[in-house]
Amino acid sequence: MDKKIKKIDRALQAYYAQQAVSKDLIEAVLYSIHAGGKRIRPLLFLELLQGFGLSLTEAHYQVAASLEMIHTGSLIHDDLPAMDNDDYRRGQLTNHKKFDEATAILAGDSLFLDPFGLLAKADLKADIKVRLIAELSDAAGTYGMVGGQMLDIKGEHVQLDLADLAKIHANKTGKLLTFPFVAAGIIAELPEKALAQLRQAGELVGLAFQVRDDILDVTADFAQLGKTPQKDLSAEKSTYPSLLGLDKSYDILEDSLNQAQAIFQKLALEEQFNAKGIETIIERLRLHV
Ligand code: IPE
Ligand code: IPE
Ligand code: MG
Ligand code: MG
Ligand code: MG
Repeated sequence: MDKKIKKIDRALQAYYAQQAVSKDLIEAVLYSIHAGGKRIRPLLFLELLQGFGLSLTEAHYQVAASLEMIHTGSLIHDDLPAMDNDDYRRGQLTNHKKFDEATAILAGDSLFLDPFGLLAKADLKADIKVRLIAELSDAAGTYGMVGGQMLDIKGEHVQLDLADLAKIHANKTGKLLTFPFVAAGIIAELPEKALAQLRQAGELVGLAFQVRDDILDVTADFAQLGKTPQKDLSAEKSTYPSLLGLDKSYDILEDSLNQAQAIFQKLALEEQFNAKGIETIIERLRLHV
């Protein structure tokens, strides 16, 4: 796992080692890229590829890096004063605190646009790359993370029901967590049925991930989170704990992860999928109480 993280970091570093237009911009981008993220999305993707019997190549690490770039950009913008207004991320000052707001906005812009060029230039079959680019754009933009972030902001100080909240979570977080599953299936050239199963597993893991984040916002401290705790309460955001209580939220987390694991077992039988690697990552998302 550590070796994979090193190689993901190397792919990110290599992209930003090209001749700079603005060194200040690259400094701000690399500050957040190297601030100590867990790299869960790229790790899920790489474990899935290996599970389907592929040997990892530089191009796979570039796909992994593209996904992490968008995720990191989403965090920089999420922390801006006009959004969630947080001073800390990954245990360090947020990008706009370390630099300034204009720089943080532009660093986010870079991290949203650069991945598509990186993907386009990767050494993969052209038809596969087109499908990956379309999936990543859908997952990240108006029909994915950005759309969900808009709902999230509009949902502050408003009484939402569970269906509204599920839609926010599915888009702001679920779509970028589903991408590694679908992307791995596309690269492994799996049939449509298996791709649909992977998408479903991704959506379940995505839901689990944001429910977990909502739980930890209430139960964990700064040292564990690396970001300001109890943030959702102060912003009057609807969350799973605020709507359903902690016990039910833990149940939904467990249940979603169990359902995802069941899909991996099915893929193991039907597609000769070796589920060991992915199962290890999924098990780490459980919060034992
Ligand atoms: C945090 O994501 C934001 C959410 C979608 C809940 P991560 O927990 O993956 O953040 P890093 O990358 O490890 O900092
Ligand atoms: C994160 O949701 C969603 C993103 C698209 C970044 P949160 O706002 O709950 O994430 P944290 O708690 O700040 O990491
Ligand atoms: Mg937010
Ligand atoms: Mg936030
Ligand atoms: Mg949160």
